[in-house]
Amino acid sequence: MKVLVTGGAGFIGSHLVDALVERGDEVLVVDDLSTGDQRNLNPRARFHRLDIRESAAADLVRGERPDVISHHAAQMSVSRSVAEPVFDAEVNVLGSLNLARAAVDAGSRIVFASTGGALYGDAAVLPTAETAPAWPVSPYGISKLAFEHYLYGFRRQYGLNYAALRYANVYGPRQNPHGEAGVVAIFCEGLLGKRLFKIHGEGTDTRDYVYVDDVVRANLLALDSEVCDHFNVGTGRQADTNTIYRLVAERMGRPTEVEHGPPRPGDLRASALDASLLERTLGWKPEVSLEEGIAQTVDWFLAQERSQAGTNL
Ligand SMILES: NC(=O)c1ccc[n+]([C@@H]2O[C@H](COP(=O)([O-])OP(=O)(O)OC[C@H]3O[C@@H](n4cnc5c(N)ncnc54)[C@H](O)[C@@H]3O)[C@@H](O)[C@H]2O)c1
Repeated sequence: MKVLVTGGAGFIGSHLVDALVERGDEVLVVDDLSTGDQRNLNPRARFHRLDIRESAAADLVRGERPDVISHHAAQMSVSRSVAEPVFDAEVNVLGSLNLARAAVDAGSRIVFASTGGALYGDAAVLPTAETAPAWPVSPYGISKLAFEHYLYGFRRQYGLNYAALRYANVYGPRQNPHGEAGVVAIFCEGLLGKRLFKIHGEGTDTRDYVYVDDVVRANLLALDSEVCDHFNVGTGRQADTNTIYRLVAERMGRPTEVEHGPPRPGDLRASALDASLLERTLGWKPEVSLEEGIAQTVDWFLAQERSQAGTNL
């Protein structure tokens, strides 16, 4: 299978690229390296440094005619989307549309990395199913939902084949600790003494943390299938920020005392996704426990730290 992964130098996209290469697929990566890292690029994938808004990105799709476009490239900062809603829409709506139109011409299927928490907000029912009302408040959530609507419309009008995967809070090795939502990565960097941080508020807000390998498996199943739908990808379980901090600190063997700052306005109180539709449709279930996933992530950050210390000798 020929797969074009946008955002393939980023956190989730690069893990997916590795899995695709490993199973023998032909893989192309489109990434502008705005938040991605060249070190994440798999040398067995063909890399094109392009912005998804450029016509060259659409030309590449039309020329290469991949079987599937796994669309992970995005402006993914909620706070930046609030500060710069036009930029957010340019990347997440217009850039995505640029690819979708080319996908129609090329006959490619799209598997789209969408979001759960930012779509459902503080939902009335937890864990939240796909049938819950989606009235996002942040421009980021709005742009992700808008593109899901375009995908649906393009399916009806042009027969575009697609699946949208609505991720919970994904965590794991390679997550960028300079984002705002990657709490596990932020705590790892903080406990390594590289970054100052405080827990916003009491630390009792909850999220659904899903390990990146489980998200990659969901993508592989969606890439290989023909199903056209919107699927939550989460564990259905909530963990609060204090618990995440404790698990990271214990694995690192660092002090468990942490400072708390004021709550961040607009943060969700609680979030968890019901992924039973994905289980019924494609047989997906999360396999990695929170303890195991955090251990893997902390060990990766520690190994990075050791290799950097080695090169600085
Ligand atoms: N990490 C999460 O918890 C989470 C949750 C829900 C949804 N998502 C979605 O998953 C996808 C991947 O997220 P991630 O956590 O791996 O983030 P990431 O920042 O590590 O990856 C995004 C990649 O897209 C690239 N990119 C950004 N703008 C681009 C553009 N205009 N043209 C080409 N490349 C561009 C970046 O350089 C980066 O490599 C995003 O679409 C994000 O919205 C992530």
